[in-house]
Amino acid sequence: KRKIIMDVDTGSDDAIALVMAMLCEDFDCLGICSVNGNVEVKLTTDNSLRVVECCDKQGQVKVYKGCDLPIASTLMPWTAQSLRPFPTREGTREGQTVVHGDHLPLPAPTIKEERDSAVVWLINTLLDSEDGEITLVPVGPLTNVAVAMRADPRIIPKIKEIFIMGGGHLVNNSSPAAEFNIWADPEAMEIVLQSGCKITMVPLDATHQAYITVDEAQKIRAIGTKPAQLVADLVESRTAGYGVNDAEMKALNAAPIHDALALCAVLHPECLKDVLHVNCHTDISRGFAYGQTIIDRRVRVNPEPKNCYFALGADKDVFYNWVMDVLEKDKAK
Ligand code: BDR
Ligand code: CA
Repeated sequence: KRKIIMDVDTGSDDAIALVMAMLCEDFDCLGICSVNGNVEVKLTTDNSLRVVECCDKQGQVKVYKGCDLPIASTLMPWTAQSLRPFPTREGTREGQTVVHGDHLPLPAPTIKEERDSAVVWLINTLLDSEDGEITLVPVGPLTNVAVAMRADPRIIPKIKEIFIMGGGHLVNNSSPAAEFNIWADPEAMEIVLQSGCKITMVPLDATHQAYITVDEAQKIRAIGTKPAQLVADLVESRTAGYGVNDAEMKALNAAPIHDALALCAVLHPECLKDVLHVNCHTDISRGFAYGQTIIDRRVRVNPEPKNCYFALGADKDVFYNWVMDVLEKDKAK
Protein backbone atom coordinates (compact mmCIF):
# COMPACT_ATOMS: atom_id res chain seq x y z
CA LYS A 1 0.00 0.00 0.00
CA ARG A 2 1.13 3.51 -0.77
CA LYS A 3 1.53 5.63 2.39
CA ILE A 4 0.05 9.08 1.88
CA ILE A 5 -0.70 12.21 3.86
CA MET A 6 -3.51 14.38 2.58
CA ASP A 7 -3.27 18.15 3.05
CA VAL A 8 -6.63 19.73 2.26
CA ASP A 9 -8.77 22.87 2.39
CA THR A 10 -12.07 21.00 2.25
CA GLY A 11 -13.84 22.20 -0.03
CA SER A 12 -16.00 20.10 -2.32
CA ASP A 13 -13.31 18.64 -4.59
CA ASP A 14 -11.06 18.12 -1.55
CA ALA A 15 -13.93 16.10 -0.05
CA ILE A 16 -14.00 13.84 -3.11
CA ALA A 17 -10.22 13.42 -2.86
CA LEU A 18 -10.56 12.51 0.83
CA VAL A 19 -13.21 9.90 0.05
CA MET A 20 -10.87 8.32 -2.47
CA ALA A 21 -7.85 8.54 -0.13
CA MET A 22 -9.71 6.72 2.63
CA LEU A 23 -11.57 4.14 0.54
CA CYS A 24 -9.03 3.17 -2.11
CA GLU A 25 -7.46 -0.13 -1.04
CA ASP A 26 -4.12 0.82 -2.57
CA PHE A 27 -3.63 3.71 -0.14
CA ASP A 28 -2.68 3.79 3.50
CA CYS A 29 -3.90 7.27 4.45
CA LEU A 30 -1.79 8.15 7.50
CA GLY A 31 -3.67 11.32 8.33
CA ILE A 32 -5.39 14.44 7.09
CA CYS A 33 -3.97 17.94 7.58
CA SER A 34 -6.34 20.87 7.11
CA VAL A 35 -5.29 24.30 5.95
CA ASN A 36 -6.72 27.74 5.36
CA GLY A 37 -7.98 27.96 1.76
CA ASN A 38 -11.41 27.53 0.23
CA VAL A 39 -12.81 28.61 3.59
CA GLU A 40 -11.24 29.40 6.96
CA VAL A 41 -9.26 26.60 8.58
CA LYS A 42 -11.84 25.97 11.28
CA LEU A 43 -14.30 25.16 8.50
CA THR A 44 -11.87 23.13 6.38
CA THR A 45 -11.14 21.10 9.53
CA ASP A 46 -14.81 20.65 10.35
CA ASN A 47 -15.57 19.64 6.76
CA SER A 48 -12.72 17.12 6.76
CA LEU A 49 -14.08 15.55 9.96
CA ARG A 50 -17.50 15.27 8.30
CA VAL A 51 -15.97 13.36 5.39
CA VAL A 52 -14.12 11.01 7.76
CA GLU A 53 -17.44 10.11 9.42
CA CYS A 54 -19.21 9.80 6.07
CA CYS A 55 -16.62 7.15 5.15
CA ASP A 56 -16.93 5.53 8.59
CA LYS A 57 -13.20 5.99 9.25
CA GLN A 58 -13.46 7.71 12.65
CA GLY A 59 -10.75 6.40 14.96
CA GLN A 60 -8.76 5.19 11.95
CA VAL A 61 -7.94 8.33 10.01
CA LYS A 62 -7.20 11.41 12.12
CA VAL A 63 -7.50 15.07 11.27
CA TYR A 64 -4.88 17.67 12.26
CA LYS A 65 -5.73 21.35 12.08
CA GLY A 66 -3.17 23.38 10.16
CA CYS A 67 -2.17 26.96 9.47
CA ASP A 68 -4.87 29.60 9.63
CA LEU A 69 -3.19 32.19 7.41
CA PRO A 70 -0.74 32.19 4.51
CA ILE A 71 2.95 32.75 5.19
CA ALA A 72 3.14 36.31 3.89
CA SER A 73 0.33 37.08 1.46
CA THR A 74 -2.52 39.30 2.58
CA LEU A 75 -4.88 38.54 -0.30
CA MET A 76 -7.22 36.12 1.49
CA PRO A 77 -10.49 37.91 2.22
CA TRP A 78 -10.48 36.96 5.91
CA THR A 79 -6.89 38.03 6.60
CA ALA A 80 -7.18 40.32 9.62
CA GLN A 81 -7.19 43.96 8.60
CA SER A 82 -4.45 44.60 11.16
CA LEU A 83 -2.09 42.27 9.28
CA ARG A 84 -2.49 44.13 6.03
CA PRO A 85 0.31 46.51 5.23
CA PHE A 86 -1.72 48.10 2.45
CA PRO A 87 -5.32 47.84 1.23
CA THR A 88 -6.02 44.78 -0.93
CA ARG A 89 -8.84 43.83 -3.22
CA GLU A 90 -11.25 41.51 -1.46
CA GLY A 91 -13.21 38.54 -2.71
CA THR A 92 -11.33 38.30 -5.97
CA ARG A 93 -12.09 34.64 -6.25
CA GLU A 94 -14.76 34.04 -8.86
CA GLY A 95 -17.49 31.61 -8.01
CA GLN A 96 -16.15 31.01 -4.52
CA THR A 97 -19.43 30.77 -2.73
CA VAL A 98 -21.30 28.92 -5.45
CA VAL A 99 -18.67 26.24 -5.95
CA HIS A 100 -17.91 25.47 -2.32
CA GLY A 101 -20.08 27.22 0.28
CA ASP A 102 -19.00 27.03 3.92
CA HIS A 103 -20.14 23.55 4.91
CA LEU A 104 -20.38 20.27 3.08
CA PRO A 105 -23.85 18.72 2.84
CA LEU A 106 -23.10 16.30 5.68
CA PRO A 107 -24.07 16.19 9.37
CA ALA A 108 -21.93 18.15 11.83
CA PRO A 109 -19.08 15.94 13.04
CA THR A 110 -19.24 14.07 16.34
CA ILE A 111 -15.44 13.65 16.36
CA LYS A 112 -12.77 16.30 16.86
CA GLU A 113 -9.41 17.12 15.41
CA GLU A 114 -6.29 15.89 17.26
CA ARG A 115 -4.41 18.03 19.77
CA ASP A 116 -1.23 18.38 17.67
CA SER A 117 -1.25 20.98 14.93
CA ALA A 118 -0.84 19.74 11.37
CA VAL A 119 2.69 21.14 11.15
CA VAL A 120 3.85 19.44 14.36
CA TRP A 121 2.26 16.14 13.36
CA LEU A 122 3.71 16.32 9.83
CA ILE A 123 7.21 16.88 11.19
CA ASN A 124 6.99 14.11 13.79
CA THR A 125 5.41 11.61 11.42
CA LEU A 126 7.98 12.24 8.71
CA LEU A 127 10.93 12.15 11.14
CA ASP A 128 9.69 8.79 12.46
CA SER A 129 9.46 7.33 8.93
CA GLU A 130 12.09 5.79 6.67
CA ASP A 131 13.69 7.88 3.95
CA GLY A 132 11.40 8.09 0.93
CA GLU A 133 8.53 6.30 2.62
CA ILE A 134 5.67 8.81 2.62
CA THR A 135 4.02 10.62 -0.27
CA LEU A 136 2.42 14.02 0.36
CA VAL A 137 -0.71 15.05 -1.50
CA PRO A 138 -1.33 18.76 -0.86
CA VAL A 139 -4.46 19.90 -2.64
CA GLY A 140 -4.91 23.26 -0.94
CA PRO A 141 -2.54 26.18 -0.33
CA LEU A 142 0.96 24.88 0.51
CA THR A 143 1.26 26.66 3.87
CA ASN A 144 1.49 23.59 6.15
CA VAL A 145 4.05 21.81 3.99
CA ALA A 146 6.23 24.92 3.56
CA VAL A 147 6.14 25.81 7.25
CA ALA A 148 7.06 22.21 8.17
CA MET A 149 9.98 22.28 5.71
CA ARG A 150 11.27 25.55 7.12
CA ALA A 151 10.79 24.43 10.73
CA ASP A 152 12.62 21.15 10.24
CA PRO A 153 14.38 20.53 6.91
CA ARG A 154 15.27 17.00 8.07
CA ILE A 155 11.81 16.00 6.83
CA ILE A 156 12.77 16.67 3.21
CA PRO A 157 14.61 13.36 2.51
CA LYS A 158 11.82 11.50 4.26
CA ILE A 159 9.33 12.54 1.59
CA LYS A 160 9.01 10.06 -1.28
CA GLU A 161 7.34 12.57 -3.57
CA ILE A 162 4.75 15.33 -3.59
CA PHE A 163 1.69 15.50 -5.83
CA ILE A 164 0.35 19.06 -5.82
CA MET A 165 -2.98 20.20 -7.14
CA GLY A 166 -2.11 23.72 -8.06
CA GLY A 167 -0.85 26.16 -10.61
CA GLY A 168 -1.78 26.83 -14.19
CA HIS A 169 0.02 27.41 -17.46
CA LEU A 170 -2.71 28.47 -19.88
CA VAL A 171 -5.64 28.04 -17.48
CA ASN A 172 -6.06 30.09 -14.30
CA ASN A 173 -8.91 30.94 -11.96
CA SER A 174 -8.08 33.40 -9.19
CA SER A 175 -6.42 36.09 -11.23
CA PRO A 176 -5.52 36.27 -14.92
CA ALA A 177 -2.17 34.74 -13.94
CA ALA A 178 -2.77 32.52 -10.91
CA GLU A 179 -4.57 29.40 -9.78
CA PHE A 180 -6.25 29.52 -6.36
CA ASN A 181 -4.05 27.22 -4.24
CA ILE A 182 -0.92 29.07 -5.31
CA TRP A 183 -2.55 32.52 -5.34
CA ALA A 184 -3.63 31.88 -1.73
CA ASP A 185 -0.04 31.35 -0.54
CA PRO A 186 2.54 32.03 -3.27
CA GLU A 187 5.54 32.11 -0.91
CA ALA A 188 4.63 28.65 0.41
CA MET A 189 4.52 27.22 -3.11
CA GLU A 190 7.92 28.69 -3.90
CA ILE A 191 9.45 27.18 -0.74
CA VAL A 192 8.10 23.74 -1.65
CA LEU A 193 9.13 24.03 -5.31
CA GLN A 194 12.71 24.83 -4.39
CA SER A 195 12.93 22.14 -1.65
CA GLY A 196 14.56 19.49 -3.82
CA CYS A 197 11.68 17.02 -3.36
CA LYS A 198 10.34 15.14 -6.36
CA ILE A 199 7.24 17.10 -7.33
CA THR A 200 4.38 16.47 -9.73
CA MET A 201 2.23 19.51 -10.41
CA VAL A 202 -1.36 18.86 -11.39
CA PRO A 203 -2.45 22.31 -12.58
CA LEU A 204 -5.76 23.56 -13.96
CA ASP A 205 -4.62 22.74 -17.51
CA ALA A 206 -4.86 19.06 -16.50
CA THR A 207 -7.78 19.18 -14.09
CA HIS A 208 -10.07 20.93 -16.56
CA GLN A 209 -9.76 17.83 -18.71
CA ALA A 210 -10.66 15.55 -15.78
CA TYR A 211 -14.26 16.61 -15.28
CA ILE A 212 -17.15 14.41 -14.21
CA THR A 213 -20.51 14.98 -15.89
CA VAL A 214 -23.90 15.07 -14.23
CA ASP A 215 -24.80 11.90 -16.19
CA GLU A 216 -21.78 10.16 -14.70
CA ALA A 217 -22.78 11.44 -11.26
CA GLN A 218 -26.04 9.53 -11.64
CA LYS A 219 -24.06 6.32 -12.17
CA ILE A 220 -22.00 7.12 -9.09
CA ARG A 221 -25.18 7.78 -7.10
CA ALA A 222 -26.60 4.42 -8.20
CA ILE A 223 -23.82 2.65 -6.29
CA GLY A 224 -25.93 3.55 -3.29
CA THR A 225 -23.37 3.94 -0.48
CA LYS A 226 -23.04 7.09 1.64
CA PRO A 227 -19.66 8.09 0.16
CA ALA A 228 -20.94 7.52 -3.40
CA GLN A 229 -23.96 9.66 -2.58
CA LEU A 230 -21.67 12.42 -1.30
CA VAL A 231 -19.50 12.30 -4.43
CA ALA A 232 -22.61 12.49 -6.65
CA ASP A 233 -24.06 15.40 -4.65
CA LEU A 234 -20.78 17.30 -4.87
CA VAL A 235 -20.36 16.74 -8.61
CA GLU A 236 -23.87 18.14 -9.08
CA SER A 237 -23.37 21.19 -6.85
CA ARG A 238 -19.99 21.90 -8.41
CA THR A 239 -21.53 21.67 -11.88
CA ALA A 240 -24.16 24.22 -10.87
CA GLY A 241 -21.41 26.47 -9.50
CA TYR A 242 -19.16 26.15 -12.54
CA GLY A 243 -22.10 26.84 -14.85
CA VAL A 244 -22.17 30.43 -13.59
CA ASN A 245 -18.75 31.43 -14.93
CA ASP A 246 -17.39 28.67 -17.12
CA ALA A 247 -19.02 28.30 -20.53
CA GLU A 248 -17.11 25.13 -21.35
CA MET A 249 -18.19 23.29 -18.20
CA LYS A 250 -21.74 24.59 -18.63
CA ALA A 251 -21.85 23.10 -22.13
CA LEU A 252 -20.45 19.79 -20.87
CA ASN A 253 -22.83 19.82 -17.88
CA ALA A 254 -19.82 18.83 -15.80
CA ALA A 255 -17.29 20.08 -13.27
CA PRO A 256 -13.55 19.51 -12.88
CA ILE A 257 -12.68 17.53 -9.76
CA HIS A 258 -9.23 19.06 -9.39
CA ASP A 259 -8.03 17.58 -6.11
CA ALA A 260 -9.04 14.00 -6.79
CA LEU A 261 -7.07 14.01 -10.04
CA ALA A 262 -3.85 14.84 -8.17
CA LEU A 263 -4.50 11.85 -5.90
CA CYS A 264 -5.34 9.57 -8.83
CA ALA A 265 -1.95 10.42 -10.36
CA VAL A 266 -0.15 8.84 -7.38
CA LEU A 267 -1.42 5.42 -8.43
CA HIS A 268 -2.21 5.93 -12.09
CA PRO A 269 0.33 8.29 -13.65
CA GLU A 270 -1.30 7.64 -17.03
CA CYS A 271 -4.25 9.80 -15.91
CA LEU A 272 -1.94 12.75 -16.64
CA LYS A 273 -1.02 13.66 -20.21
CA ASP A 274 1.53 16.01 -21.78
CA VAL A 275 3.72 15.97 -18.69
CA LEU A 276 6.71 18.32 -18.99
CA HIS A 277 9.86 17.91 -16.89
CA VAL A 278 10.70 21.56 -16.32
CA ASN A 279 11.99 24.29 -14.09
CA CYS A 280 9.15 26.08 -12.33
CA HIS A 281 9.07 29.17 -10.13
CA THR A 282 6.22 30.96 -8.44
CA ASP A 283 5.88 34.70 -8.94
CA ILE A 284 6.32 36.22 -5.49
CA SER A 285 7.02 39.74 -6.68
CA ARG A 286 3.55 40.94 -5.57
CA GLY A 287 2.73 42.47 -8.90
CA PHE A 288 0.01 41.62 -11.37
CA ALA A 289 1.23 38.01 -11.69
CA TYR A 290 1.57 37.32 -7.94
CA GLY A 291 1.04 33.57 -7.50
CA GLN A 292 1.65 32.61 -11.13
CA THR A 293 3.48 29.33 -11.72
CA ILE A 294 6.01 30.03 -14.43
CA ILE A 295 7.45 27.05 -16.29
CA ASP A 296 10.52 27.42 -18.45
CA ARG A 297 9.84 25.79 -21.80
CA ARG A 298 12.87 27.27 -23.51
CA VAL A 299 15.48 24.92 -24.88
CA ARG A 300 18.68 26.27 -23.33
CA VAL A 301 22.32 25.31 -23.10
CA ASN A 302 22.56 25.92 -19.36
CA PRO A 303 19.03 25.61 -18.07
CA GLU A 304 18.01 26.11 -14.45
CA PRO A 305 17.56 22.68 -12.88
CA LYS A 306 14.30 20.92 -13.64
CA ASN A 307 12.38 20.81 -10.37
CA CYS A 308 8.98 19.37 -11.25
CA TYR A 309 6.80 17.37 -13.58
CA PHE A 310 4.07 19.70 -14.84
CA ALA A 311 1.01 18.12 -16.48
CA LEU A 312 -0.74 19.98 -19.26
CA GLY A 313 -3.49 17.43 -19.88
CA ALA A 314 -5.43 14.54 -18.39
CA ASP A 315 -7.18 11.36 -19.45
CA LYS A 316 -10.74 11.75 -18.28
CA ASP A 317 -11.58 8.07 -18.67
CA VAL A 318 -8.71 6.79 -16.53
CA PHE A 319 -9.80 9.21 -13.82
CA TYR A 320 -13.54 8.50 -13.91
CA ASN A 321 -13.03 4.72 -14.10
CA TRP A 322 -10.81 4.87 -11.03
CA VAL A 323 -13.43 6.81 -9.07
CA MET A 324 -16.12 4.29 -10.03
CA ASP A 325 -13.89 1.32 -9.31
CA VAL A 326 -12.93 2.52 -5.81
CA LEU A 327 -16.54 3.29 -4.86
CA GLU A 328 -17.82 -0.03 -6.24
CA LYS A 329 -15.14 -2.05 -4.45
CA ASP A 330 -15.95 -0.21 -1.22
CA LYS A 331 -19.58 -1.22 -1.60
CA ALA A 332 -18.61 -4.86 -2.11
CA LYS A 333 -16.62 -4.92 1.18
C1 BDR B 1 -8.23 24.47 -6.29
O1 BDR B 1 -8.77 25.53 -5.52
C2 BDR B 1 -9.72 25.02 -4.64
O2 BDR B 1 -10.86 25.78 -4.66
C3 BDR B 1 -10.01 23.62 -5.03
O3 BDR B 1 -10.33 22.87 -3.89
C4 BDR B 1 -8.76 23.17 -5.71
O4 BDR B 1 -7.86 22.64 -4.80
C5 BDR B 1 -8.56 24.69 -7.73
O5 BDR B 1 -8.05 25.90 -8.17
CA1 CA C 1 -8.52 22.15 -2.53
